[in-house]
Amino acid sequence: MEMNYRNKIMLAPMVRVGTLPFRLLAAEYGADITYGEEIIDHKLLKCERHINDVLGTVDLIEKGTNSVVFRTCPEEKSRVVFQMGTSDAVRALNAAQMVCKDVAAVDINMGCPKSFSISGGMGAALLTKPELIHDILTTLKRNLDTHVTCKIRLLKSSQDTVELARRIEKTGVSALAVHGRKVADRPRDPAKWDEIADVVAALSIPVIANGDVFDYADFERIKVATGASSVMVARGALWNASIFSPKGKLPWEDVKREYVRKSILWDNDIKSTKHTLKEMIMHYSCLELSEGKGVIKSESYADLAKVADRPRDPAKWDEIADVVAALSIPVIANGDVFDYADFERIKVATGASSVMVARGALWNASIFSPKGKLPWEDVKREYVRKSILWDNDIKSTKHTLKEMIMHYSCLELSEGKGVIKSESYADLARLYGEDKYYEHVNKHRLFCGSR
Ligand SMILES: Cc1cc2nc3c(=O)[nH]c(=O)nc-3n(C[C@H](O)[C@H](O)[C@H](O)COP(=O)(O)O)c2cc1C
Repeated sequence: MEMNYRNKIMLAPMVRVGTLPFRLLAAEYGADITYGEEIIDHKLLKCERHINDVLGTVDLIEKGTNSVVFRTCPEEKSRVVFQMGTSDAVRALNAAQMVCKDVAAVDINMGCPKSFSISGGMGAALLTKPELIHDILTTLKRNLDTHVTCKIRLLKSSQDTVELARRIEKTGVSALAVHGRKVADRPRDPAKWDEIADVVAALSIPVIANGDVFDYADFERIKVATGASSVMVARGALWNASIFSPKGKLPWEDVKREYVRKSILWDNDIKSTKHTLKEMIMHYSCLELSEGKGVIKSESYADLAKVADRPRDPAKWDEIADVVAALSIPVIANGDVFDYADFERIKVATGASSVMVARGALWNASIFSPKGKLPWEDVKREYVRKSILWDNDIKSTKHTLKEMIMHYSCLELSEGKGVIKSESYADLARLYGEDKYYEHVNKHRLFCGSR
């Protein structure tokens, strides 16, 4: 089967996240290739293949149980990659043979640093065993009629990574995915795009660059920086699967709701759906608030559907349009503008002369920039500096900060608590690392504030 690894944007493998509904969601928004979550060969070998006539899916079900280990459907067959954890060539082949006819490619995980992987000789443990890598990949290549690939992390030196990548290329794999972090690196450490570039320069097969893609524009940025053929994204997609859309991200509330709908439709394992929702909520809000609590308490899709369907009334742009049509003075349209592109969308939809935004600006005042939003952390800090400079009423500054924090995080965490406790700009400046700025302004103040 033909699958082209060049110029593609891909959903990276993510344990408990990359199940069928999430893969279909990502593809709907624009992902060309979607990886499933890593499944260990031992686990697959305990399964039987079932055709599920009710859902129209192929299910790998653990024998003697109802547990669906892998579910796929013909619609995704040309783009789904089955990722496997293994430490043995023959076992990997036996397992891969159970799914290879239903997927576009089989990928071996050589990057997982978790102890269960390493102790089983899988994941990143393979990086120190080039002979075993060769054995696994050549065995799969020789015996499978499908694409075989693998995903690695960086080794200690760029030279070591390049040497390993060259050995991998010789096995005949169709592509190599490189996560630009070393085994000891944490997710918050920046991905080393320059070391991915070294691998790209040394190989002639397609290299898939991975690490720190958080916006659609980053797909191009990482390609330019590394020279890679294609790009793969994990956390950026988990937090908002519409990252794949060239039109820009949709509000995460809408994406989350669509994910719940797809999970219901494809009868996804409820534990995996809850896990994915919790990851999303923890990024934007926190589990201690009512939505998070609702997800945790949910025992069935009936419960989850109720949580996801909490009403959020959309602004009625069509009724603004009626006002615009009836007047000859300028009408300023207002409601549900959350991105720069929405200024144009609401103008087109309503015919209004101008647009006004409240929540979108409160959450990130750089919404007005045609270049795209700045990170809200930077905007918040700039707001604190301006509040100090103009000696704003501290109650109003604290209120605004709390609103921002409640949108992206929650007041129960340390930043929120810090804002609540602050009694002066000295306290706020300390909280945001702006002590020097505060001192400087106070020393040189031209205005007589009322402190
Ligand atoms: C929730 C989660 C689960 C992951 N599971 C896997 C996995 O099953 N297999 C794998 O190769 N990598 C896995 N990873 C690593 C990602 O595929 C990716 O390499 C890493 O997160 C860096 O990409 P990012 O900066 O876009 O997040 C996982 C990452 C996350 C956040």
